[in-house]
Amino acid sequence: MSLLNHISLPHLLIYFILFCFILLSLTYWLPLLYLSCLPVQDLRARYYADLRHSLPPQRRPRRRRNSLSPGSISPNRLHDAHDVHDAQAAATEPWALITGASSGIGLALARQVAAQGIHLVLVARDDALLPEAVQSLRAQHPAVLVRAVAVDLSDSRPAPGTDRTGHPPAYPEYLRRIAEATDDLLHHGTLRLAFSNAGYLLMSFFRQRTLAEHLRNWECNVTCALRLSHHLITKWHEYQKRTGWTGTTASGRPAVRPFGLLVFTSSASWFLPSPFAALYGAAKAALSAFAQSLAVEVRDQGIDVLVVQPSYTRTNLYQEAPKLAILEFLDRYTAATPEQVARTILRSVGRGVVSREIGGYAYLTRWLGHVLDIGGLCAAMIPFRHHMAEYRLYAQAG
Ligand SMILES: *[C@@H]1O[C@H](CO)[C@@H](O)[C@H](O)[C@H]1NC(C)=O
Repeated sequence: MSLLNHISLPHLLIYFILFCFILLSLTYWLPLLYLSCLPVQDLRARYYADLRHSLPPQRRPRRRRNSLSPGSISPNRLHDAHDVHDAQAAATEPWALITGASSGIGLALARQVAAQGIHLVLVARDDALLPEAVQSLRAQHPAVLVRAVAVDLSDSRPAPGTDRTGHPPAYPEYLRRIAEATDDLLHHGTLRLAFSNAGYLLMSFFRQRTLAEHLRNWECNVTCALRLSHHLITKWHEYQKRTGWTGTTASGRPAVRPFGLLVFTSSASWFLPSPFAALYGAAKAALSAFAQSLAVEVRDQGIDVLVVQPSYTRTNLYQEAPKLAILEFLDRYTAATPEQVARTILRSVGRGVVSREIGGYAYLTRWLGHVLDIGGLCAAMIPFRHHMAEYRLYAQAG
């Protein structure tokens, strides 16, 4: 008797669904498994191959002039641009730029990038954390140069003199300051790694804050990343044209020679509803979608693009947020440390993936999104809204 006689149509259907489920799951979990086995990327070897002949071997840490003490530094004096050593390093050695670098994931990235002997441009808010970060990085990695740019990335007011055309400001003061601090590096083609990581959290009902507050948050989280990427990609393109850099290898195959790296810190919220931080999901979705499309375009320039979607991470992001049920739950059961997230980022860059989740919560929800309909999930939240602790909290606030 044939096997089919034993299997009824409903059974067949169930097997079929199960099969699809497993297949879909594998397409999600297998690449993740592969990525988790990889070592941290050697950034110098990958992105500075064409400068290699001019790169000194990774220097032994040595003591350098370091007259700064915590608390005594005005942020404007943080970078030692006129150091002789700095000028030489600017022309010949690898540099990385990190926004939101004074704490959390940004600071962890800074430490791990510095550990690879790469100099740093740190961009962060003008508060006590930045000089502290600079101090501790210099102490830990004496051979690494650190420039700091203390700016407010949520302030889109134009740099004086750049809005003569009457157009909306495309060049805010903070970008002018960043451009100024990196001008020589971009000219020499030594700044090739950029981590767009800055972000801060506002929680409330959408109407409970002014539109201006929301738009500042959007500027810092999204628009700033777009402006910075545009600036860098343009400068990289100029450098490549000027120096005759080509992605074509000796064998004639195009654009396999890595030149630079753009990393964006998004969040698992980009594909999940995020009520009480309505702009959060929207902003992260914009960032993730932007990065994924950009990755295709900049291939010929040898630029790797990676957007990461971390789960709840123990940073000071949530310090000012009320102790919400969901945050406490995530903190207790799924929180990753910034160091773990940074390590995963450095493992994933240049591996042929453009987007990756980090941490148990992100893996699970993304996998769910792989096999379930998220739109349906959102609709299902509506009838239950009154049972959400945060809904009650913000509704009380009026
Ligand atoms: C900005 O980014 C932070 C960090 O990922 C996030 O917590 C916050 O909700 C984001 N806000 C917006 C409007 O995107």
